[in-house]
Amino acid sequence: MHPTIGILGAGRVGTALARQAVKAGYRVRIATAQPAADIELLVNIVTPGAEAVEASEAAASDLVIMAIPLHKYRTLSPADLTGKVVIDAMNYWAPVDGVHDDFEADARTSSEVVAAFLGGSHVVKSLNHIGYHEMEEDDRPAGDASRRALAVAGDDPAAKELVQRFIDRLGYDAVDAGPLAAGRAFQPATAIFTGSYTAPELHALVRHPLAA
Ligand SMILES: NC(=O)c1ccc[n+]([C@@H]2O[C@H](COP(=O)([O-])OP(=O)(O)OC[C@H]3O[C@@H](n4cnc5c(N)ncnc54)[C@H](OP(=O)(O)O)[C@@H]3O)[C@@H](O)[C@H]2O)c1
Repeated sequence: MHPTIGILGAGRVGTALARQAVKAGYRVRIATAQPAADIELLVNIVTPGAEAVEASEAAASDLVIMAIPLHKYRTLSPADLTGKVVIDAMNYWAPVDGVHDDFEADARTSSEVVAAFLGGSHVVKSLNHIGYHEMEEDDRPAGDASRRALAVAGDDPAAKELVQRFIDRLGYDAVDAGPLAAGRAFQPATAIFTGSYTAPELHALVRHPLAA
């Protein structure tokens, strides 16, 4: 049995990930901050096979993906996400998010800020450094020499393992970048964020991060 996947956000990233996860055989539940009925038609058309649900139902899934504009992270429910394994696919991108002291004036990575807000979740940063339009195009079977790799950073080994298995089934190699703080290596304005790499290339880059 695959874990059920809950996606918070039905925009560009959320719907692309939903389609890719349905294709990989997962049961996918997707939500916005609006009532499920408001997105049901959109979900049926744009992400066939996924189920439109309330945000609290998506959060009750085995693996939850946060795919909302980062500046809205305080609209997430820490109570709903307590104890859950949560992928942070979000980026701090001031031109889109606006300038926010939560991220500008804080030395921590954006994922650490979000993890501290959530408090009781096992946050794993990943899926943030691949464009939404690439998610369904760059997948390759395991073992393919050109298979693209995605970095994974988190403080909980079991949570990271669950996320790595998910990424593999989506069609990508998962590269363990280290603890959540190591997500700095693949935030915006890094070489990893702006490029596309195989696992050996990405392993080298997470050890020696470069600016873009
Ligand atoms: N664009 C890319 O290629 C790309 C790639 C990787 C990662 N990212 C990151 O992924 C995140 C999402 O980007 P996007 O381009 O998909 O954004 P988007 O197209 O603007 O979609 C955002 C979605 O989040 C929903 N939302 C807002 N608050 C919510 C909440 N509290 N609970 C559940 N859903 C909520 C919105 O719906 P309502 O407002 O109606 O609730 C909307 O469906 C961003 O942080 C971005 O940096 C983007």
